[in-house]
Amino acid sequence: MAQINPSILSADFARLAQEAEAVRGADWLHVDVMDNHFVPNLTLGVPIVESLARATDIPLDCHLMIEQADRWAPQYVEAGAGSVTFHAEAAAAPVRLAREIRAKGARASMALKPATPIEPYEDLLPELDMVLIMTVEPGFGGQAFLDIMLPKIRRTRELIHKHGLDLWLQVDGGVSAATIERCAEAGADVFVAGSAVYGAADPAEAVRALRAQAEAATATASWGCSH
Ligand code: DX5
Ligand code: ZN
Repeated sequence: MAQINPSILSADFARLAQEAEAVRGADWLHVDVMDNHFVPNLTLGVPIVESLARATDIPLDCHLMIEQADRWAPQYVEAGAGSVTFHAEAAAAPVRLAREIRAKGARASMALKPATPIEPYEDLLPELDMVLIMTVEPGFGGQAFLDIMLPKIRRTRELIHKHGLDLWLQVDGGVSAATIERCAEAGADVFVAGSAVYGAADPAEAVRALRAQAEAATATASWGCSH
């Protein structure tokens, strides 16, 4: 079952409650937290996540593009996030951090920038509920999808299969009607879309259309046939 997570990075930050309502039917709301250190952009932090969690029924998928993830990530669980993604490049002790996120009651997820391989993290996968393969360099919405990430998505799906894990595989960056089928075919099952959803005339309809496209592509993909 393909999940579509609209990224509020492309929404109107002065109207976040209404922007959440505009994507009713989305599986999760993707919240990009940037600290201007890990990435060259600054967005929002814990207080806004707390307010947004109270303002919407859609569960929050917090993507932390911040340094010192070990120190800050648990606070996003306390703020109400249902899933917290830290970057492998920013975590000093990813196993301890994933366990802490899970112990506090959220799904634990780890993201990889385009130049970070999945292979060194193979043994850590059972500690995670989701892996995020970035399909752009993190920091900004509206960038072009990096096709060169497709082999990493395929290899990650193979590792999940090899270990028999119930692990979601998320892609983020440049995901649109033009690229989502490639992602699904390669093995992704959770799709973040910012500009493709909030740039559409009807964002809720864009979510439904993207999900239908992803599910059709998964049904015929070699990894998805048995699902
Ligand atoms: C980029 C963020 C993404 C961004 C995606 O660093 O992590 O979530 O919002 O935006 P689009 O879908 O427009 O590439
Ligand atoms: Zn993101």
